[in-house]
Amino acid sequence: MKREKEIELLKRCAGLLAENSREMADEEGGSRPDIYLSQDRFEKEMKSFERFPLMVAHSSQLPENGSYLALDWLGGFPLLLTRDMDGEVHAFANACQHRGSPLAQNGCGQARRLMCPYHAWTYDMAGQLKSVPHKSGFPSLDPTKVKLSELHASEFGGFIWVQKSGDTKLDVGEHLAGLGDDLKWINAADHVLFAEESRIWNSNWKFIVEGGLESYHFKIAHRDTIAPLFNDTLSVFDEFGPHFRSVLTKTSLKQLQEIDEENWQIRETANVLYSFYPSASLLLQPDHFAVIDAIPLSPSQTHISVRTFVPKGSMETEKSRAHWQANFDFTRDTLLEDFELAVQIQKGLQSGATKQFRFGRFENALTRFHQINEQMISKE
Ligand code: FES
Ligand SMILES: [Fe+2]
Repeated sequence: MKREKEIELLKRCAGLLAENSREMADEEGGSRPDIYLSQDRFEKEMKSFERFPLMVAHSSQLPENGSYLALDWLGGFPLLLTRDMDGEVHAFANACQHRGSPLAQNGCGQARRLMCPYHAWTYDMAGQLKSVPHKSGFPSLDPTKVKLSELHASEFGGFIWVQKSGDTKLDVGEHLAGLGDDLKWINAADHVLFAEESRIWNSNWKFIVEGGLESYHFKIAHRDTIAPLFNDTLSVFDEFGPHFRSVLTKTSLKQLQEIDEENWQIRETANVLYSFYPSASLLLQPDHFAVIDAIPLSPSQTHISVRTFVPKGSMETEKSRAHWQANFDFTRDTLLEDFELAVQIQKGLQSGATKQFRFGRFENALTRFHQINEQMISKE
């Protein structure tokens, strides 16, 4: 983010605080229950998300040549990420070309070769088949022509992006529509994974995204965690293509007028939340950031991971590790409040209790998120 933009955003927020007003859309918005329940709708969304690069991991999750990472991705698709012996990142379907066994169990590891646990076909880290036991049983097989099924993978701004389908690999920087500069600004590439926690939640993925797009709920839903630190319903957002940057202001905003403008720091005065379409978020805090990735598995199931990334070389002392751990715990505990609510909402929805959702004029990021999602999934 350019310095002028940082100052401009802070002035915009300070102006709202001074006038005790909020940025409002002309009209209220809303969404329909069926978009969180329907299998057809879910499949349409997954088909659409395949067409462009999605943030799936931070570069530090594949730290060395030979690192790999396996996970259940969109709709449960088994995804395997590797860093080959030349340092290049690849994304594959985690399925052996013999009879489909996953090559790696979900999680991360380090290897020079990946050997299938079923009959020991073996692949190098660039996905090339290297050896086949009892090869004489496959006279038509030329191993040099067999590779794992590969998806488009890119490393950009400190993250790994995967595009599942399409003949052309899209440019991640272009897809980010300007937010790539912010990834540079926060030096995302110079951070490493400190801690993570993940599990499957019984909620549609969109409820998880919605939790990051408004600050109306802070005072109530987060009364036991972050509420005392933030201003009530005082946030602003901007759009970048299908993505959002929200500035969620803290109570320290009111002290800004006592500080020389040249010393204003947005990271001290607000949390900046980047919502990368469709469902990965980066929460920027004063000295580190967290990534919340919500992977849609089914209309009512989402695999959510919370990861804290800290500057390289900042985990050396016990004191610093305790500092990061306290930050990770606090962020996770806050987010658990959101995820629990999302599960309860989904439960109500499935019982038919809820007929419509209303978005207030100051919750316009929700309205825009749903409008953008509709546009994206209706594109051919
Ligand atoms: S399925 Fe992998 S070697 Fe048979
Ligand atoms: Fe929340």
